[in-house]
Amino acid sequence: MIFVFSSSTVWGGQWHIGASLDCDDCHLQHASKQGQSLPGGPYTYLLLKDNINALCLSCHDGTNATAPDVQAPVDMYSSTSSQESAAGYFETVGIDNPHGHTLGVNMLVPLQNEGNSITLTCANCHAVHGNSNYRNLRYDPAGVGATITLEEGLDVFTQNNPANPPTVSGSIQAYERDNVGYKNDFSQWCASCHNQLATNSSSTPPAHFNAHPNNVAINEYAGSYHTDPTHWVLGTGEGFAGDTSSTMGIPRVPFLAPTASDYTTSKIAQSSNEVFCGSCHKAHGKDNKKSLLWPYLEGGNDYIAGCQQCHYK
Ligand code: HEC
Ligand code: HEC
Ligand code: HEC
Ligand code: HEC
Ligand code: HEC
Ligand code: HEC
Repeated sequence: MIFVFSSSTVWGGQWHIGASLDCDDCHLQHASKQGQSLPGGPYTYLLLKDNINALCLSCHDGTNATAPDVQAPVDMYSSTSSQESAAGYFETVGIDNPHGHTLGVNMLVPLQNEGNSITLTCANCHAVHGNSNYRNLRYDPAGVGATITLEEGLDVFTQNNPANPPTVSGSIQAYERDNVGYKNDFSQWCASCHNQLATNSSSTPPAHFNAHPNNVAINEYAGSYHTDPTHWVLGTGEGFAGDTSSTMGIPRVPFLAPTASDYTTSKIAQSSNEVFCGSCHKAHGKDNKKSLLWPYLEGGNDYIAGCQQCHYK
């Protein structure tokens, strides 16, 4: 399986896959390097660290400048327009993180019918040996026998690929938030664990829904919108960064572009854009509660900025 790299294999992730899966990034064959034995080793599966989070974060914590930093504080994206990565960042492993996914603590999966508890590691969400999904995201993160595909060039689009061999500037450009456009299937991927959100719960008109819907277009209900498609498409005014009429404003939130065929078309603001998990939440986390893109639960000027972009009430 992982050892057979035939040229017909379609690789989706952009690193730790196929020819860029360097075994020695993560494994050490005899727990010894240059005559120095591995402190505390050898570890299970000949890994360089005694657990997966520590292994991945040994590069992805900002100490390796070419590895996208996923642990706070992150400043590698400060030169980009978005100033953050697409997924955002975690806080300290082993401590309940109110600002996003908690790593290394056994916790209930919220909004899940089965109410399972799991101890999250990077490997719950990412295939450690790569796969054909965007960012090597697992086909079956909840472990229920699903095959969720989320493919680069089909469901997600990026403009800049990371460099091979990795470079600092290449990683910054490849992993910053604005380099990604979304089309399909992202909400379904999140809802494999948070399966209470797998379908939208509908309501009686004039209300349409009983919980915030996902994968619904801003112009879905022509004539009885609860949204403001014109405001969304304009991208100026209340809720949007640079607005002068109020003190609130954040960059346009991510959206699904169901008719996109490439990166450029995936970034066009249209009334057919759809709201999805990523419109409101970062995949890893951010400095707002519940991994939200704006300080909805903290208050302050921007507390409803994201909501206003689509609803303008
Ligand atoms: C030896 C350092 C190192 C280790 C250890 C490491 N990574 Fe990475 N990882 C990198 C670098 C460098 C890149 C970016 C490659 C580039 O810019 O070309 C990367 C990229 C990634 C990406 C983005 C892939 C894509 O499709 O673009 C993911 C996801 C990722 N790593 C997850 C992990 C996980 C999970 C682990 C632990 C099992 C891990 N990494 C361990 C160095 C490392
Ligand atoms: C980005 C980090 C990373 C890289 C690179 C990597 N591995 Fe692994 N590997 C892991 C982790 C983490 C585990 C443990 C998985 C688990 O506990 O579920 C593992 C487990 C294994 C296992 C035992 C479990 C199994 O799946 O059979 C083998 C064998 C293995 N790796 C071989 C390789 C080989 C060969 C390469 C190079 C082609 C490689 N790995 C590259 C992270 C990595
Ligand atoms: C492998 C299962 C799994 C997947 C996939 C998953 N989550 Fe979670 N999620 C969890 C667990 C476990 C928790 C509870 C622990 C915690 O707060 O981190 C959680 C908590 C959350 C929280 C609450 C965080 C907080 O600070 O209280 C949000 C928001 C969330 N997830 C959103 C998402 C989004 C968005 C996605 C898709 C990008 C996603 N989840 C994918 C398992 C998962
Ligand atoms: C709850 C699921 C989940 C967990 C746990 C998780 N990731 Fe991710 N990760 C994602 C998703 C989803 C994306 C893609 C987000 C996007 O592009 O909007 C992503 C993106 C990334 C990227 C691309 C850079 C970025 O910031 O966008 C890297 C690198 C990465 N993850 C590494 C890791 C490492 C290392 C760990 C463990 C320390 C980890 N991830 C744990 C879901 C997860
Ligand atoms: C990216 C766009 C987007 C963002 C951001 C957004 N929404 Fe929505 N919202 C929608 C869409 C699309 C619908 C469904 C369209 C409809 O019902 O007319 C919807 C529906 C709703 C509804 C239900 C209306 C009904 O039909 O019953 C409420 C309430 C709501 N949103 C509140 C909020 C709040 C509060 C926020 C901020 C926390 C928010 N929305 C953020 C796009 C968005
Ligand atoms: C329109 C914005 C919006 C969308 C879209 C959205 N969420 Fe949320 N979500 C929120 C807000 C706001 C909160 C926290 C406060 C609240 O519940 O009102 C929250 C809370 C959560 C929680 C924590 C629940 C708890 O018990 O603490 C999880 C998990 C979660 N969302 C997952 C998801 C997933 C998965 C998706 C996509 C399938 C999604 N959300 C889509 C706005 C949104």
